[in-house]
Amino acid sequence: MAMESSNNMNILIQDIEDGLDTEELSEEKAIDHEDIEIRLILETVKLVHGYDFTNYAYASMKRRLEKNLDESGLEKLSEMIPLIIHDKDFFRRFLHNISVNFTEMFRDPHFFLSIRQMIIPYLKTYPFVKIWAAGISTGEEIYSLAILFREEGIYDNCIIYATDFNDNVLEIARDGIYPAADMKLNTANYQRSGGKESFAGYYHAGYDSVIFDSSLKKNIVFANHNLVTDGVFGEMNMVICRNVLIYFNKKLQDHVLELFSQSLRRNGFLCLGAKESLEFSTSAPLYSVVDKAARIFKKKRDVL
Ligand SMILES: C[S@@+](CC[C@H](N)C(=O)[O-])C[C@H]1O[C@@H](n2cnc3c(N)ncnc32)[C@H](O)[C@@H]1O
Repeated sequence: MAMESSNNMNILIQDIEDGLDTEELSEEKAIDHEDIEIRLILETVKLVHGYDFTNYAYASMKRRLEKNLDESGLEKLSEMIPLIIHDKDFFRRFLHNISVNFTEMFRDPHFFLSIRQMIIPYLKTYPFVKIWAAGISTGEEIYSLAILFREEGIYDNCIIYATDFNDNVLEIARDGIYPAADMKLNTANYQRSGGKESFAGYYHAGYDSVIFDSSLKKNIVFANHNLVTDGVFGEMNMVICRNVLIYFNKKLQDHVLELFSQSLRRNGFLCLGAKESLEFSTSAPLYSVVDKAARIFKKKRDVL
């Protein structure tokens, strides 16, 4: 019996070694016990809860799991496996801890300035525009877009699909309530992005939080969508997915970029994060560069 289970373990280890991304392996040099534990955790999460993190960038996933271990009081990563299977509260905390949800309004103001100056004039030529923003976290990016579109006079002719795979952050995005302490930075970003009004006019201030005007949500559809497992949104004029691909390995980046290419109509715009690029992806030949620094691309053809 002991012999048989150790054989099974050898097969599993072999499967895991075969499945390891070679790029990441060369960084990690050699597979060790911790690598095996991490692979087993990710497979467990996938099998039991349906979230597939197996093609997330390995080094960053490893760091987040190690941090999670420190905070959990457990000794070994593999001790998380039974808790992931049986303990709902543990899994909720686990998911929260391995997700990176950092965001802010008008993040990278130059990006929003570029949208204002280079994309809006083009979108204005359409009677109606459809936008998909993927991986929106707590929604600051979406309210930024809504404000910009309203100031540029196209908000009433657009629909924005705002998606994330995490229901907790989507709920915050739907509510549009944020700490008042963030408004100083948000206001500065708004002004640097070419904002035309008084930023405080867009929200109602409470004691230590603010709520964004509900009219900004009129044309926003918030929805759960997982970039790893869910399908395309059709005929988009613009897809925005910023600071999400950076957490994926190259294989998953290629898959998601393909999803975006299928979702975009010809002459539609793809917007990525400051540290993300199309350059080495299989979708790159479909696009021309609109603003390299702002990571804005235009889809010039449908097939390679
Ligand atoms: C760092 S935040 C980026 C937020 C915003 N786009 C920005 O640039 O400020 C990354 C977001 O990607 C989401 N995310 C990660 N994996 C995802 C997946 N497979 N499908 C959809 N969203 C995902 C996370 O839940 C998180 O909210």
